[in-house]
Amino acid sequence: MRQAGVRLAAAAALVALAGCIEQEVTASGGSLYASYCAACHGTDGRGGAGGPDLSRLSARAQGDFPLVEVLAKIDGYTRDPADGMPEFGALLSGPTVPVETGPDVLTPTPVALVALADHLRTLQR
Ligand code: HEC
Repeated sequence: MRQAGVRLAAAAALVALAGCIEQEVTASGGSLYASYCAACHGTDGRGGAGGPDLSRLSARAQGDFPLVEVLAKIDGYTRDPADGMPEFGALLSGPTVPVETGPDVLTPTPVALVALADHLRTLQR
């Protein structure tokens, strides 16, 4: 009985922690975007400053925000350095959170990257 109580408390603490991280992440995504991305992609993500329009990513993907592609793009896996996007080493360090990158596949992903992707999601139209 006592053990179950401890487990329950631990689970509650984890849920609270996840909530905190989520909030922090959502708050910082916009400012990360402003610092690292707006110069080329525009404050509203609609491009025009050298980078393509980022507000149509969902529309282009039949309405589903292409999270995995976006994460991969930012972290450079699918980027040809000759394309014009700089690397964002600072965004790729720090704490990670598990992100579902495929059916039943959870990939530890830097919190800052997730925040940015969440912000991009809000720019979709
Ligand atoms: C120095 C200018 C520059 C900056 C800064 C920049 N980008 Fe880009 N971005 C580009 C260019 C140019 C492309 C098109 C070529 C390519 O795909 O690499 C692009 C492409 C992309 C794409 C793919 C778009 C598509 O249509 O598939 C995404 C997503 C993206 N950028 C996100 C970001 C994010 C998020 C940031 C901030 C962390 C950022 N970019 C910062 C220039 C930039």
